[in-house]
Parts: sequence; structure tokens; C-alpha cells
Amino acid sequence: MTDQDTTLENLLTETRSFQPSPEFAASSNASPELYEQAEADRLAFWAEQARRFLSWDTPFEEVLDNSGAPTARWFADGKLNATYNAVDRHVEAGNGDRVALLFEGEPGDTRTITYADLKREVSKAANTLESLGVRTGDRVAIYLPMIPEAVIAMLACARIGAPHSVVFGGFSAEALHSRILDADAKVVITADGGYRRGKPSALKPAVDEALSHDDTDVSTVLVVRRTGQDVAWTDGRDQWWHEALEGASEEHTPVPVEAEHPLYILYTSGTTGKPKGILHTTGGYLVQSAYTHWYVFDLKPETDVYWCTADVGWVTGHSYVTYGPLINGATQVLYEGTPDSPHKGRWWDIVQKYGVTILYTAPTAIRTMMKWGADIPGEYDLTSLRVLGSVGEPINPEAWIWYRRVIGGDRTPVVDTWWQTETGAIMISPLPGVTDAKPGSAQVAVPGVHVDVWNDAGQPVGPGGGGYLVINEPWPAMLRTIWGDHERFKDTYWARFPGTYFAGDGAKFDEDGDVWLLGRVDDVMNVSGHRLSTTEIESALVSHDWVAEAAVVGASDATTGQAVVAFVILRSDALEAAEAEGEKVVGELRNHVAHEIGPIAKPRSILVVSELPKTRSGKIMRRLLRDVAENRPVGDVTTLADSSVMDSISAGMQASAGD
Ligand code: WT7
Repeated sequence: MTDQDTTLENLLTETRSFQPSPEFAASSNASPELYEQAEADRLAFWAEQARRFLSWDTPFEEVLDNSGAPTARWFADGKLNATYNAVDRHVEAGNGDRVALLFEGEPGDTRTITYADLKREVSKAANTLESLGVRTGDRVAIYLPMIPEAVIAMLACARIGAPHSVVFGGFSAEALHSRILDADAKVVITADGGYRRGKPSALKPAVDEALSHDDTDVSTVLVVRRTGQDVAWTDGRDQWWHEALEGASEEHTPVPVEAEHPLYILYTSGTTGKPKGILHTTGGYLVQSAYTHWYVFDLKPETDVYWCTADVGWVTGHSYVTYGPLINGATQVLYEGTPDSPHKGRWWDIVQKYGVTILYTAPTAIRTMMKWGADIPGEYDLTSLRVLGSVGEPINPEAWIWYRRVIGGDRTPVVDTWWQTETGAIMISPLPGVTDAKPGSAQVAVPGVHVDVWNDAGQPVGPGGGGYLVINEPWPAMLRTIWGDHERFKDTYWARFPGTYFAGDGAKFDEDGDVWLLGRVDDVMNVSGHRLSTTEIESALVSHDWVAEAAVVGASDATTGQAVVAFVILRSDALEAAEAEGEKVVGELRNHVAHEIGPIAKPRSILVVSELPKTRSGKIMRRLLRDVAENRPVGDVTTLADSSVMDSISAGMQASAGD
């Protein structure tokens, strides 16, 4: 890492610390006693949170049953409904007029949706799904832009106990197809399109393409009309959302489900080519999402305006747009578009317009804003902000300080939250008003969660030591399995250190015992806070006729954290055409990856090479390719079968950089 100060050495020379202001501490939701209570009796602590944050149809007696480890069961003899908790009970408590969603479309259209509105819309959608034959336990795929219907659709599924599988709208038809197939979804909820960078961007064609394989069990596609663009129509299968909901009743009784009933499947990249369907269940997941949302963001539901910029296609959007905030009765902003549309001040305009008090976003966005300059946020009144959150990748101290100073006016606590799709909810984070904040460190496990850093041999490294992040006690929001592949669940997370959850992240303790996250230690990349698999992109590349072999690495990038850099060997017949067409080959291959996976996976650069660095046993040495991609002198090549390979690759890289 050359152009960022996220190297271990730089991170650990960061010694600044920010004390909570006395005013903030005096009224913060969190207090130091929270840690003591959790420490005194961890299960009693979680039981208390479960009773406090959720309403149960059948109260639970049992807190944790870990006899089926590694699949834990939490609150398993209790029954509840997620949507009742997120919506109905707020209306019953007299808060139906409170705004749930402040929607801002990219073109500037707005909608204000109260909890009473949400109850009505979600009920209609739930009745519609039931009339389409969706039963408790059936899966529904959701492929939507960031519009209120995305939240409504998720809640409608949860209302009838039909697990949803949200697929990020930026994923390709191929990616959508494999997820629909793996989850065996019955219904797909999509839109004609959404607005992206000032233009309508189509979604429905990807659904048509995904279903053209004719190998899924999808009987109905519900289509939200968002952009009004023309769509192809399959009679008997496709229905407009607004027409289907029109006649539906506004009354619907939420279906109480067991706490361990599946709430959703969300696919995420692993170290192999096939995405993993992470399964989350109802009770424990909701408890930890709501609890962390309350304490980590210091939510005051009557007065705060909360805004999490994540798309509901990612886990952050599940836990901190749909479930956590709504369970807590928050008022939140939902924004459809990109930060630079129609101008680079759009986010700050939104903060000013709605008086946003809590902002939760990703380091990559903060670094992009830094690059655009402090003058842009400087044009807006951001004084409403009082808590700033970060998630998705390590935040370098420089970005942390900029976030606090330029966006937070040097007043706001910044919470760096570490967690994963698999953990379901925040695991490591300072608590505002309690923790002395250290820029660049996620610091401490939230009360009730136990994490540690272990060395290769599975021993705790202790203060000052580095190694692998592990989670050594079950937690309520933990994944229960990988959908349809329980063996992979056991192998991926529980085999590296038998019986202990291995997160896949490197980490270090400082002398105070605070945790510093150091990035992935496996073949998983983190690009703009989005998880991508090197193997998945390699498979996409070799699925192209021209490509014989491919190796992909994540190279550090000043804005996106990591960037995808690919090295490909072309087939000999393609080589000639490639030589004639030059740059077009690279363009074609980049587009091919976008078509197979989605635009987020497009390599930043692709270098055509004649050989790849391999060990004598044939393993590609990605470490050396990373050196080249990051413009570093190439490391030790002695284990290569042919040590001259790296010379030609380095020369090729330099030549292409000079173009
Ligand atoms: C991976 C999980 C959790 C929602 C977004 C990403 C990295 C996440 C942090 C952080 C350092 C972080 C880890 C983790 N990560 N948050 N605050 N500091 N690294 O979810 O796609 O499941 O990715 O993101 O490497 O393993 P995800």
C-alpha cells in the first residue's frame, strides 16, 4: 500500500483520541454500565435486549441453545413477526403519523411515508403475495432500485414469513439468475428501472434474461413502475405492482413465526466462484439489529433523522435501513441515486434539506468526497449532524479525521463499525458518548459480543499482537447456515479454528486492547465496501471464448480501497484477433465481467500476458501479481517454476501504464 495510510505501521502510529463531549455523554443511550451488565451475565443481557427491543407473540423462555453448534438457536421457543415489530406496533402505540421514510428520488421527486402509510402498503403487498400463492416459507426474490417499494416488499415478505432474497440492482442478469435458482424463488419483485446518474436505467430486461433460461420456479414477476420506460411483457407471468395492489385489502394479520424461522437469504461472495446464500433467521437477527442501531447510533426516535446511504441490496441495507431503524421507530431518509447526481453536493443538500442528524456511510464515499474537496460540503448547513458512522472496509485515519472535521464540524462522534453479511449486525464499534474514539480503529466489541485475535496456532495474541479476527461466543444475529450447503458453512467459518468463528479478516490489538482491522486474509476483495471474490471474477473471465487463463488480484486504490486488476492469457486463436484489435479486447473482457457479475466487478485494468507466475505445483502466486499491480518491486520469486515470468509481466505493466 503506497498511496494510503492504512498500512499497519501508519495505522498504529495513529495516537489521536477524541473524548465524547460532556453534553453528548450526559444524554447518550449508551453508558459504561452496558458493558458491565453484558459481562456479568451475557445470556441474561441478551434476553433483556430481546424483551426490550421486540414484541413477542409467544414469549421465549430459552435464550440460547448451542447444542447444534455451529448453528446456534436463539430465543427458539418464542414466536414473533418481524413486520409487526417494524411497523404495526408503532401505529398501535399512537405513532402512526410519525414519518418512517423520507424518500428522495434521484430526479428530485419526493415521498413522505408515515408508519401508518407503511402499514397500509405492506398489508396490501402481503395480501397480494398471498393471493399469488406465496406461503410461509416460500422464497421471494427482490430486484429493485432504492425506492420505498424495496422496503415495502421486504416487509411484505416478512409479514407472511416468506424469506426474501434481495439481489442488488447493480448485479447482472446472470448473477440474478443464479440467485433465483439457488434460493428457488417463486416470485420476483422488480421495477421497470430506476434513476442512475440522471438517466433511467432499466432493470426488467435483466429479469427477463434471467428467467429466459426456463429453469426456475418463478410463476409471477411483479413490476413496480418507476421510470415509465418501455418494458417487454410476458403475459400470465408479469403483473404491474400497482395494479396487483390496487384491489388488495389494507387489512392483513402478520403471521407469527418461530424465532428461528428464516427471515432472509442474502448472497455474498466467498473464496470460490459460487456466491454463498447467507441465511438469517428472525428473532436473534432482529434483536441485535435493533439493539446495535439504538446504541451505536444513539438513536432518539422522536427527534432524529437518520440516513444510511447503503442500498437494500447489501446487508447494511437489510439491518440498518429496513429492520433496525424501523423496529426502533426511526425516521429515515431513503435516497435513490448517486452522490454526484446532478451535482457533487447532492448528499449535503439532502442532509441540509431533511436536517439529517445521523449519517451512516462507507469509507470509499468519504474518500471520494475528500477528493472532490471540502468546499462542496462547505456550501451546506450540516450542523444538524450529531453522529457519523462508517462501515464496509477499514477507514484510514486521514478519512476518519476529514469526516469528523469537515462533515461533523469537529463535534460529532465517528463510529467505525465492523461486521459482515454473516454476522448480521454490528459486532465491533465504539459507543458514542462512552468510548474515547481512535481514528482508524473499530476498537471494541459491542456489549454482549466476544471477539479475539488469534495467531496461526489458534492462540490469543494479546495486546500488541496481530493475527486473525475470531468470534468466540455465539451471537444472536449470526448466520445459521449457507442456504443449501451446510458443509460449506462448516468448512468456511468453523474449520480454520475448530468450533470458533473465523471471520476471514486480519486484525491487530493495540496496547490498549483496541482492535484494528487489517483487511481480508483470503481471496476476497473489498472494492468500494463491496465484497468480491477473485475466483468468481476469474471464472467470469475464463468463460469468455478468448480467455485461456486468468488471475485476479485486489490492488490497493486510494478511493475504492481495493480495485480489481486482472491478468489474462488469451487463447492462441484469439491472440491474433486481439493483436489486430488492441484495446478493444480489454474493453470486451471488462464488459464481459460486467455482464456475468455486474458493473461493480469490472476490472480497473486487464493486462494480457503470455504466462502467469506459478509455483512448481501449479498454484498462481497472486502475491507477486499484487506487487506488480501496486507498482512495487516484485517480491521473492524463488518458488516460481519459471522465475523470468515476472520480468515480462512487470515490463508489460509498465508499458501499459505508459499508454
Ligand atoms: C467484510 C464484510 C458489514 C456491511 C458491509 C460489508 C470488511 C466491514 C469494516 C470495518 C474494516 C470492514 C471486512 C469484512 N469490513 N466493515 N469497519 N473495518 N473492515 O459487508 O460485504 O459482508 O463484507 O468487510 O473485511 O470481513 P460484507
